[in-house]
Amino acid sequence: MAVYNFGSINWDHVFTVPHLVRTGETLSSLGYQVFLGGKGANQSVALAKAGADVHHIGALKQSDPALEHLTSLGVCTSGIEQLDIATGQAMIQVMPDGDNAIVLSPGANHRNHLSWLERQLANAESDDWLLLQNETNLIEAAANKGQQHSMKVAFNPAPMDKDKVHRLLSLLDLLIINQIELTDLTGTEDLENALQQLHHQAPSLAILVTLGSRGALYQSTTERVSTQGFRVQAVDTTGAGDTFIGYFIAALDNGLTPSTALSQASAAAAISVTQHGAMDAIPNADEVHYFMDNY
Ligand code: RIB
Ligand code: NA
Repeated sequence: MAVYNFGSINWDHVFTVPHLVRTGETLSSLGYQVFLGGKGANQSVALAKAGADVHHIGALKQSDPALEHLTSLGVCTSGIEQLDIATGQAMIQVMPDGDNAIVLSPGANHRNHLSWLERQLANAESDDWLLLQNETNLIEAAANKGQQHSMKVAFNPAPMDKDKVHRLLSLLDLLIINQIELTDLTGTEDLENALQQLHHQAPSLAILVTLGSRGALYQSTTERVSTQGFRVQAVDTTGAGDTFIGYFIAALDNGLTPSTALSQASAAAAISVTQHGAMDAIPNADEVHYFMDNY
């Protein structure tokens, strides 16, 4: 099956900092690098590296080298529209423990055209995946289209917009969310309570909760599985969630069980935090298998 990923593309300006810059402070960084990123593009690359047939749908500035870059990483880029609008940009501060803070300039990511999106999904087949994050415009239109095509619709609500998630729930097959976002969405820090609330609102929805270094949990109508995660020394956690999501969907799409999908995704995410950058840190499938065999 194919995976259609309608998502953002950003240039990530990564500043390595001793601490997050404070109000009124001018802070000199310890290092600066530019990487290709964006939650959408990162997830497409993770899907491609995991072996999925991934069609990225999105928008960027015409002639931006990002297009060629994504193609070279195995992503089908014919669904990326070239506009006369700046490509998305992200300003990322990475601290010594690998944690980060991000400011976005959405640019072209918020200027996707409905007609273009519809054309890209015209050949989608039932049971193909439609993956969405919250860094583009037209999310609800996309989810509706996906449902009309009987696709499996997965949504990663980052950055979080509670109202939008509540509006979308009935259109989704899978919600992929981290614990901070889940608390924000449901108003409770209690995981069981949060899952129950969502189950009440959308009984057939499957939920994947990523728990950072503590692993992840997947719950569908028929099963619940979890993984503990792998212990590694983090240098940059940016994009670990994206790596997880791409690997998880690719594994399910490949017919693997949710339990195997969780292990592979969490191994891929663990490797990614040991490397700088988001997209550049995503391992390929061989590296993931090697890591799992030798952990
Ligand atoms: O999830 C990481 C990504 O978030 C970065 O690549 C940055 O572009 C932001 O979108
Ligand atoms: Na990383």
